[in-house]
Amino acid sequence: GIKIVTIGGGSSYTPELIEGFIKRIKELPVREIWLVDIEEGKEKLEIVGNLAKRMVEKAGIDCKVYLTLDRREAIKDADFVTTQFRVGLLDARIKDERIPFENGLLGQETNGAGGMFKAFRTIPVILDIVKDIKELAPDAWLINFTNPAGIVTEAVLNYGNFDKVVGLCNIPVHTQMDCASLYEKDISEFKFQFAGLNHFVWYKVWDKKGNELTSDLWDKRQDKENLGVKNIVSINYDYDQIKNLGMLPCDYHRYYYLQDEMLAEGLKSYEENGTRGEIVKRVEAELFELYKDVNLKEKPKQLEQRGGAYYSDAACELISAIYNDKGIIMAVNTRNKGAIVDLPYNSAVEISSYITANGPKPITFGKFPNAGQRGYIQLMKAMEELTVEAAVTGNYYTALQAFTTNPLVPGTTIGRKVLNELLDAHEKYLPQF
Ligand code: NAD
Ligand code: G6P
Ligand code: MN
Ligand code: MN
Repeated sequence: GIKIVTIGGGSSYTPELIEGFIKRIKELPVREIWLVDIEEGKEKLEIVGNLAKRMVEKAGIDCKVYLTLDRREAIKDADFVTTQFRVGLLDARIKDERIPFENGLLGQETNGAGGMFKAFRTIPVILDIVKDIKELAPDAWLINFTNPAGIVTEAVLNYGNFDKVVGLCNIPVHTQMDCASLYEKDISEFKFQFAGLNHFVWYKVWDKKGNELTSDLWDKRQDKENLGVKNIVSINYDYDQIKNLGMLPCDYHRYYYLQDEMLAEGLKSYEENGTRGEIVKRVEAELFELYKDVNLKEKPKQLEQRGGAYYSDAACELISAIYNDKGIIMAVNTRNKGAIVDLPYNSAVEISSYITANGPKPITFGKFPNAGQRGYIQLMKAMEELTVEAAVTGNYYTALQAFTTNPLVPGTTIGRKVLNELLDAHEKYLPQF
């Protein structure tokens, strides 16, 4: 049987993960699920863990759920370790968002200053987890959702020197679901090719016969409501700019292509409702009230209010594809290995890949259609590399360089100010600095 370990088990997304395993129990014989958390998250772990136990019991499957604060005990002999922890919990996220906004910059948990700080807090922890895996479960796969998922994958590959890692995001999944719903067809009717970085990925689409639909899909998407993930306002892109790009952008490209509009919208929302982290705190409180109900034995509908809906299901699909050597195509964060000619061989990229028992095999993509994409993505990758190096070394000047390289930090003077304020605010979680 398979042993799964989920670090950050107290996350409100855990019921989706459990549902995903229950659904696939025939093809994926999971016998143990270990939910791991820390002292700060003990109460969340109890509540969500007890719901997980009720779900498994109701499903009547041969699987046991364990709750623990002992990470090493959990990791021992694991087959798959999934990571969905948030260092400093939502209070830290709120600081990542508030401090940039207070300085007139975008406050977002994976982009700009906030995203770089989430990386600074997360990378030392994930590298520790990698050490534990190498020692206690050397054959295990690490499936990471912890954001910024692409930068975290970059760190594990190139500083953890650990290759059995796959980074996962729900954006490609959501994008495919949106496409299918616009054509009123099943996802299986389409073929997608994703290439880029996490939260900076572009895609093309074809029908089953091989006719390209990319441009047609762009027309279909115009002015449609309810597309995209819950945490991003869907301001329309400039129609012609994208039409001439050769590929379609993801939801997160708005923070770059529509910088001014997204900043204005973000500041307005910040003034009216506080940061997204504060909104999520309210959603989470509501979810945990539901989770406490001993009569609840399934994933509640309300979880769809979270931007990350469907990512846990994608994780279960990925795990099953590895376990069963399925060879299906999924867009994941993995080592480039030359698939995207415009990026270094060893970089983590988000790319459509065949999922096999030996992990993802990235599908050759080649070059981006134009220099606009090439230039932008090379800058973003450089920023990611600097962010990882700063997270590992704690070097202030590397962090400053990462800041000034980030397109959402408009210059060194303001960059230094925001960097200093965030370093102060997060001191407790940044022992390396
Ligand atoms: P959360 O705030 O509920 O945190 C999850 C749990 O992590 C908490 O119970 C917390 O106590 C625990 N934790 C914190 N530090 C830990 C540590 N060192 N070891 C073990 N556990 C620890 O977070 P959430 O909103 O459920 O999100 C979880 C993570 O998943 C975040 O990092 C978030 O950015 C990420 N996420 C990723 C995607 C994606 O597309 N990849 C989608 C949604 C969320
Ligand atoms: C997404 C992303 C995640 C992101 C999350 C935020 O769409 O792909 O990486 O962190 O949703 O959701 P939340 O509900 O926490 O704001
Ligand atoms: Mn994501
Ligand atoms: Mn949607």
